[in-house]
Amino acid sequence: MARVFSGVQPTGALHIGNYLGALRQFEAAPGHLYCIVDWHAITEPHDPAQLHRGTLHVASAMIALGLHEESVLFVQSHVPAHVELMWYMTCTGTMGELQRMTQYKAKAKGRRSVSVGLFAYPLLMAADILLYRTEKVPVGEDQRQHVELTRDLAERFNSRFGETFVLPEAVMPPAGARVRSLTKPLEKMSKSDPDPDSKILLLDSPDEIRRKIKKAVTDTGREIRYDPQEKPGISNLLEIQSAFTGEPISKLEEMYAGKTYRELKEQVAEVVVEGLRPLREKMEAIAAHPGEIEGILKEGAEKAAALAEPMLKEVRQKLGFLERLPS
Ligand code: TYM
Repeated sequence: MARVFSGVQPTGALHIGNYLGALRQFEAAPGHLYCIVDWHAITEPHDPAQLHRGTLHVASAMIALGLHEESVLFVQSHVPAHVELMWYMTCTGTMGELQRMTQYKAKAKGRRSVSVGLFAYPLLMAADILLYRTEKVPVGEDQRQHVELTRDLAERFNSRFGETFVLPEAVMPPAGARVRSLTKPLEKMSKSDPDPDSKILLLDSPDEIRRKIKKAVTDTGREIRYDPQEKPGISNLLEIQSAFTGEPISKLEEMYAGKTYRELKEQVAEVVVEGLRPLREKMEAIAAHPGEIEGILKEGAEKAAALAEPMLKEVRQKLGFLERLPS
């Protein structure tokens, strides 16, 4: 079975973009790894208490999805191998490659100073993926470019030092790979958006979900049709419904012919409320037992470290480092 690896940052409360674009695609199969990428979460100034809470929150979502039962669930900072491989990637990638990363350009735009960590972040992500000989990386559209960079780095390393890394491939869902903000539908829904109405959180109550969808920004005109350029707000709602129900968007367009924006919003709200209900209830139950969450993560870290070690050994050897003496 193809090795799968994916990661989620514990930077804030998870939203339906994270769920539809990534978490929902995570399959609980043996040999797959899912990581809470806490080292990624300090590239921007952060609140330590929030990082701590966020790590348990992301873990509770992964456990609610049953990922720990068959797969390896762990916290990045519990496996130091990630930073060691990142250094080798730092010496493989180029400034030009990192400067071309869309996410970096968007985050750095107009700022006088950005951390080296924010700039170098895709190299850490490449290390996460390559460390486990990953073949498939389920992610949302915004991470596609980072996975492509990872392939380039792996190919470059392999051609310089001999076949070492597997070339990974990003996997995206047919609907929900780029869920947009409810208040700014030209932008993606984002954990770091300070406007709470821009996103639906996995832990939002049914009433909160209904209120946010009712307030969602729509477009001029009355017609309900999928056109992300001309009708980004309506298209986003259609895409959310399609992602939750599995109905193709063309079917939904037919269904909504002659209906009003209000009717669309009411339907979408119900679909989201029901779609999230079981997950929310499980997450709440799991969050009440942080000790159990930590136990699962500890076990996961031990398994991940054992998988990472032979890869690192091979890389060190290919690069010419003197072998460590056993202690
Ligand atoms: P992060 O934490 O920002 O997001 C977690 C996952 O959610 C997806 N996502 C979305 N999908 C659809 N619509 C949206 N609006 C939306 N917002 C976020 C992301 O694409 C991602 O799949 N760099 C990564 C974390 C990472 C990683 C990795 C992922 C670190 N190392 C190795 C895969 C493999 C990130 O910041 O995701």
